[in-house]
Amino acid sequence: MQPRSARIVGWGYYAPQRVLTNADLEQLVDTSDEWIRTRTGIRERRVAAPWESTTSLASVAARRALAVADVDPAEVDLILVATVTPDYQFPSTAALVKEVIGSPRAAAMDLAAACSGWVYALTSAHAYVMSGMYRTVLVIGAEVLSRVTDFTDRNTCVLFGDGAGAALVQASDEPGGGLLGFELTVDPSGAYNIWVPAGGNRNPTTPATLERRGHYIRMDGRETYRYSTRTLASSALTAIRRAGLTPDDIALFVPHQANIRIIESVAKQLGLAPDRVYVNVDRYGNTSAASVPIALSEAVERGRVQPGDRLVFVAFGAGYTSGAAVLEWTADPAASARAAAIGPDVVVRAPRDWTADDPTPPELRPFFAAREEAAARREEAAAGSSADEARTASPGSATPTSVPTEVHA
Ligand code: ACO
Repeated sequence: MQPRSARIVGWGYYAPQRVLTNADLEQLVDTSDEWIRTRTGIRERRVAAPWESTTSLASVAARRALAVADVDPAEVDLILVATVTPDYQFPSTAALVKEVIGSPRAAAMDLAAACSGWVYALTSAHAYVMSGMYRTVLVIGAEVLSRVTDFTDRNTCVLFGDGAGAALVQASDEPGGGLLGFELTVDPSGAYNIWVPAGGNRNPTTPATLERRGHYIRMDGRETYRYSTRTLASSALTAIRRAGLTPDDIALFVPHQANIRIIESVAKQLGLAPDRVYVNVDRYGNTSAASVPIALSEAVERGRVQPGDRLVFVAFGAGYTSGAAVLEWTADPAASARAAAIGPDVVVRAPRDWTADDPTPPELRPFFAAREEAAARREEAAAGSSADEARTASPGSATPTSVPTEVHA
């Protein structure tokens, strides 16, 4: 039987614990906190730990979305992972996520539309559900951009961060709610304005591509800025019109978090006051496909979204792609609390014959090494004093430490 609507019933996000501040970047390239804040609105961004990957970030966000929805992973029919930083060229990140979360019958695939990826994936999930093909679809946006960012290039390295967000879309027999209108566009004239030149089959990895730093993001920032301010506003307006609404009907605008100036320009074009626009670019930077679902999950968690609200998600990115979706919210925001029970550690099976080096960009390792050593010393000192106290109370007891693990088959 065909459902009457496809609704978001779960949501969740995960941002790695490592924080890279503007002050850190001042030590790497010729930039300043003042320049970064005033030109982009970004204060800090997150960076994946050595044992983390797009699969692990995506899996934590997915588990949180399932917990919020109170849906068993076995019920998932399809896993869509929007990403341009997959763990490998193949297998897909979605296949690895399926193994981590344990969804025996789910189909799984990746979707590449850069920063617009999650909006593209959300509309795909809607189509699968409304056609009657699948009832429960996990829609994940996840990126580890730090591993394709050139930390010697001030034009790009200040912009990007790592993270993951997820939504669970499910068939409902109730009418109303879910996707009301959408718009997806591609303008390939900008295809080489944000791109990673090497590592695909056009320029396979060679010593020469490594020498030219061809495996990192290259971007024409000015041109991309011009494109984004135009396309975000027009895509959002088209989607709103197709939903039979006007910008006045929109309770919250959840845009791609690339640059506060871009967000403000689009809000102005749509006549939206700041309290109707969700912003977290200051804390995460641009996390590409993860940006909108992280912002959505945070907004719901913080009480900014109520049942009956009409929301607009809108994004732009490499391609040039853009995507906008208008959605009527139906879920209970209080369910967000269930995500808190899901910790950040997941086990991603690694291949037997391959041991990876620390994938943290070499320029960043000294910051994190120094901070993590200091944190370990503090933890040791605290454990020492609490062990002393514990010994007094119960001789022989030890404080366990939790180390994230990766299992080899
Ligand atoms: N610190 C200091 N100076 C800098 C920095 C920096 N980090 N980066 C660039 N500059 C310099 C430039 O070299 C330039 O100097 P010049 O005039 O001597 O050449 C000057 O600052 C101004 O450069 P502009 O490019 O005009 O600066 P602008 O105000 O446009 O801001 C920015 C640059 C932030 C990159 C902006 O253009 C932007 O946000 N563009 C959109 C980028 C974007 O969102 N990309 C994401 C696509 S997502 C995806 O699909 C992966």
